[in-house]
Amino acid sequence: MQKILVTGGLGYIGSHTVVVLQQAGFEVVVIDDLSNARLQVLDNIATITGIKPEFFQIDLKDTVQVAAFFKQVKVSGIIHFAAYKAVGESVEKPLSYYRNNILGLLNVLDGMEANDIAHFIFSSSCTVYGQADVMPIQESTPLRKPESPYGKTKAMGEDILSDFVATTDKNVISLRYFNPVGSHESGLLGDLQKIPNNLLPYLTQTASGMRKELTVFGNDYETRDGTAIRDYIDVNDLAAAHLLALNYLLEKKNTQNIEFFNFGSGTGSTVLEIVHAFEKANALTIPYKIATRRAGDIQEAYADYSKAKELLGWQPKTTLERSMQTAWEFQKSLINE
Ligand code: WQD
Repeated sequence: MQKILVTGGLGYIGSHTVVVLQQAGFEVVVIDDLSNARLQVLDNIATITGIKPEFFQIDLKDTVQVAAFFKQVKVSGIIHFAAYKAVGESVEKPLSYYRNNILGLLNVLDGMEANDIAHFIFSSSCTVYGQADVMPIQESTPLRKPESPYGKTKAMGEDILSDFVATTDKNVISLRYFNPVGSHESGLLGDLQKIPNNLLPYLTQTASGMRKELTVFGNDYETRDGTAIRDYIDVNDLAAAHLLALNYLLEKKNTQNIEFFNFGSGTGSTVLEIVHAFEKANALTIPYKIATRRAGDIQEAYADYSKAKELLGWQPKTTLERSMQTAWEFQKSLINE
């Protein structure tokens, strides 16, 4: 049984991916520093799959601890989620974001090189495109300088990986997620954002009464209803994408040492369309107010995922309605805490 390291494996997309890997027969070892995840998620994964992943609480910035881990634990591949990911916070604390997201990545890559690990999957983001000129966005769409330090760490991460594979025989896939939403069918895994950064946690916390109303950041964009357009992709479909990407590398189907893939639904939705989809899917009303645009936001982004479909056999399967329902189900499971 092949052992795969999942860094950030107790986080939102990471935990869903650990479940999918285990259910596909992989042995999974998780590293997480618990800065944005709870240890309870380890038990929740075990409840879903019947297998508790091996777990190490390690801060990837700790060069000595990371090197010791790789000496002790032999893995065939790495899926690297561990990173700080709050856009707004990254603007306030840029050094913390560069140190954590870049040094953490470098320490993992050192471990790869020192222990002859061949395969690496990187959690990237559509934010590397900035405001693209043409929709839908393809992998060949020119990258624009991201607005936030968070987005810059993703773009830098891809540059570091491109230079890394140029001097080694490593195989890398960078997954550019659009906007992850939804939760696991079991209600045991979801986006644990105490102080949210993203639209959906703000929506579900408003629905739960934790927040009086949702603030819609801007309705003066040049879109069908004036609010910004994003591509909301279900986290379960994203988890499946990582398994397909891993097998693509393990089966040596990659034609280049680093390949980039977009993962989105292929459909753009405005903020108000998401609010209304959430209300309809869960038969409730969301109070909201319109405010000015949020600094750094782009007007529109949605994916062309035909490359992932053609080369990985991936496509989104979960409806937006279902994502809105599972997001709400997860929030309700937290209310009792
Ligand atoms: C979506 C839309 C907001 C909150 C970022 C990162 C991306 C990924 C997802 C990590 C925007 C609007 C939001 C609110 C609102 N990162 N909004 N009221 O900024 O598209 O992408 O998060 O997983 O890499 O770049 O996502 O969910 O913050 O915003 O009106 O209370 O919802 O203005 O138009 P974003 P988001």
